[in-house]
Amino acid sequence: MMKMKSGKWRSIVLAIILFKFVCQSSYASFIPADNYLISCGSSRNVTYLGRTFLPDTTQSSLVLKSANSVVASSNSSVPSPVYQSARIFSTTSSYKFQIEQKGRHWVRLYFYPLTNSDSNLNSASFSVATEQFVLLSNFTFKSYNGSSMFKEYAINVASDNLMLYFVPSNNSVAFVNAIEVVSIPDALFPDQALALNPSAPFSGLSDLGFETVYRLNMGGPLISAQNDTLGRTWENDEKYLHVNSSAVRVAVNPSSIIYTASVTTETAPNWVYSTAEAMGNANVAGMNFNITWVFPVDPNFKYFVRAHFCDIMSASLNNLVFNLYINDDIAIGSLDLSSLTNGLDVPYYKDFVSNSSTDSDTLTVSVGPDTMVDVTNATMNGLEVMKISNEAKSLDGLSSLEDLLPNTPSNKSKLGIITGLIVGAVVTVVLIVVCYCCLVARKSKTPHQGHPWLPLPLYGNSLSLTKMSTTSQKSGTGSCISLASSNLGRVFMFQEILDATNKFDESLLLGVGGFGRVYKGTLEDGTKVAVKRGNPRSEQGLAEFRTEIEMLSKLRHRHLVSLIGYCDERSEMILVYEYMANGPLRSHLYGTDLPPLSWKQRLEICIGAARGLHYLHTGAAQSIIHRDVKTTNILLDENFVAKVADFGLSKTGPALDQTHVSTAVKGSFGYLDPEYFRRQQLTEKSDVYSFGVVLMEVLCTRPALNPVLPREQVNIAEWAMTWQKKGMLDQIMDPNLVGKVNPASLKKFGETAEKCLAEHGVDRPSMGDVLWNLEYALQLEETSSALMEPEDNSTNHIPGIPLTPLEPFDNSVSLIDGGNSGTDDDGEDVTTSAVFSQLVNPRGR
Ligand SMILES: *[C@@H]1O[C@H](CO)[C@@H](O)[C@H](O)[C@H]1NC(C)=O
Ligand SMILES: *[C@@H]1O[C@H](CO)[C@@H](O)[C@H](O)[C@H]1NC(C)=O
Repeated sequence: MMKMKSGKWRSIVLAIILFKFVCQSSYASFIPADNYLISCGSSRNVTYLGRTFLPDTTQSSLVLKSANSVVASSNSSVPSPVYQSARIFSTTSSYKFQIEQKGRHWVRLYFYPLTNSDSNLNSASFSVATEQFVLLSNFTFKSYNGSSMFKEYAINVASDNLMLYFVPSNNSVAFVNAIEVVSIPDALFPDQALALNPSAPFSGLSDLGFETVYRLNMGGPLISAQNDTLGRTWENDEKYLHVNSSAVRVAVNPSSIIYTASVTTETAPNWVYSTAEAMGNANVAGMNFNITWVFPVDPNFKYFVRAHFCDIMSASLNNLVFNLYINDDIAIGSLDLSSLTNGLDVPYYKDFVSNSSTDSDTLTVSVGPDTMVDVTNATMNGLEVMKISNEAKSLDGLSSLEDLLPNTPSNKSKLGIITGLIVGAVVTVVLIVVCYCCLVARKSKTPHQGHPWLPLPLYGNSLSLTKMSTTSQKSGTGSCISLASSNLGRVFMFQEILDATNKFDESLLLGVGGFGRVYKGTLEDGTKVAVKRGNPRSEQGLAEFRTEIEMLSKLRHRHLVSLIGYCDERSEMILVYEYMANGPLRSHLYGTDLPPLSWKQRLEICIGAARGLHYLHTGAAQSIIHRDVKTTNILLDENFVAKVADFGLSKTGPALDQTHVSTAVKGSFGYLDPEYFRRQQLTEKSDVYSFGVVLMEVLCTRPALNPVLPREQVNIAEWAMTWQKKGMLDQIMDPNLVGKVNPASLKKFGETAEKCLAEHGVDRPSMGDVLWNLEYALQLEETSSALMEPEDNSTNHIPGIPLTPLEPFDNSVSLIDGGNSGTDDDGEDVTTSAVFSQLVNPRGR
């Protein structure tokens, strides 16, 4: 029965994957209806970086009208072969391109003042225009100092031809070396964007001309035309970064980017989305700055700004909320990528219309932390800035087409503009009404209503179909544990939760984490609890919700945070934990006013956490890898007993015959095992590495990553290791500890951390070894310097120090059931497949 079912599901899934593949490949293979690459004045084909430019005289669909043109060419050094010839005009001349498909087209112009022509092209002054827009107005090369110039425009062509006029200024000549006229997919440029200052929808963009002025690949390499499906060039952002801002580059494998129906490779190549600038480690208190880029612009124009985002750095959903500013205006407040994309590595972009900043000829774009949210990080992957044509229908200066081309029928129809305005106004009104309705709907959303995070067909039908079916598939092949049928702790009624948290009173908010908000609550019997309420907008949160329930309900250990129960009434995702009165370890290290911990307290906390992890790794038949060990996931109860929390990312470890689990890299920056990052192979030793970072953090009381510091100090693992290797760790330790630490204890601690941070997993100790060593360091501290440290090896421990035996693991409840066993099929999140079983149709429950 089960087999049949899963077989059937598999074939459906296969069909869907195939369907998805067909869809994706149809996006991927956008073939421009019009595709002119023209080498002007050339007598032969010019191929450069895989693209061939044809001579301007050999195509019937292209007509050159010039009373007087000459050809120049050069064999001497030119910036690229595209520039090696030019056509020079002494009177107004034109190219007429036959257009197969109306719509927006790239118009790309290449200029280079070749030296061996009769005219001095360096002092040439001329204008370039289409029938609709002035592209260049009395432009001269003088200011360019003999370098080449590339211009890219995006022009809507509404007729069967595109005319490109070259108009020499008085007594000068005009010239051009190469031209591209290439179709753009309709979806790439919208008619609308959000205008800022004041914030309002701006419509009618289709009627306006664009000129690309900046196109950046944040934190990544130059992407040249042949590597972009639409022949665009993306440059690195570093030279535009504001000096005072401090950004960290992040990158993932480009193949991990997940395109959707609304964001495709035509939007931007995966090389753009797979790199970013970011602030670095999340949650670092006092890390409050913006990453700012500054762009010189012409203050007389409006700009179309497209910001590209993709959460490539979070370990889990809902860990990244930040603000986007354009100039000093907030462009997007509390931008929560998780809720917009429902996934990590899923790209998103947003369009704006903006002026230059007031009284200045720069445009600034910043991302920075949202002070309303606990998560301190911000990121951006790509940015496009395009100049928008002005009232004179010009992209360069104020002279209009009529001034430039008095004899051409450029003055098309004023009627069109008026119609455009009316349509624009109507659309605006509709949009405002829709926005208002959305807002009202959102405001009035109470827990009594339906299931707001059910997959809505946000991306059109194909994707939502895919999503639903993937979900179903998981249920088909998964293990079908249902929440009700297994003993997963107490089931709370939603009303009980409301009473306990005073209706989720914001004053009881303990924090905002990977999964949602955590509130302090008091049960009817007076028991203090922590209530974690899943972000209702996050579909993937459900997976982590299940993982956490399943993991925690079967794991009982003094050093693991206990799950008391859960509530899934009305599709709420609420977990109820024991309350940890002293909160996260990190808040006792830095960023708060809490009193510093003593060395002994720190050792005891580290030992507690190590015990919890040791239990995870060895307590079960199959070990459990936490994957997100960090100082915010080590919580302290009222007696400062440390407990490991947050199992949303946990995975079961490798099966006996395997040494690792292959998996997409998840975890928190600064704590990530470099080997895991490189090889995407997860072992218990990845947790050991992260724990090494925790040890250094405990000793030095600074964040794992702090991008504000000088380069060599940014990463605590690197920084502390250089001092540890010199045997001078005391130089960078918490000043509060200076003189209060037994040197032998410190030495043991430093050595332990060093071993944890070994480059290769095989060189790192097991959590059991770490535990012994920390016990030893504590013993050294307690017996003070009276006890001399013997020459030892790392696993040595002093006989007589009692080690709390590990609580026996309850084998009667197998943590891993058949359908889920370890490393099967695809390296997907194994822990989530069972999780999904409950999620097929929460409405049905
Ligand atoms: C130039 O390229 C075009 C298209 O690739 C080709 O059809 C033509 O034969 C080439 N001409 C020469 C002279 O190589
Ligand atoms: C980031 O920039 C915006 C806009 O200029 C400003 O309002 C905000 O205070 C800045 N935030 C920080 C942390 O500097």
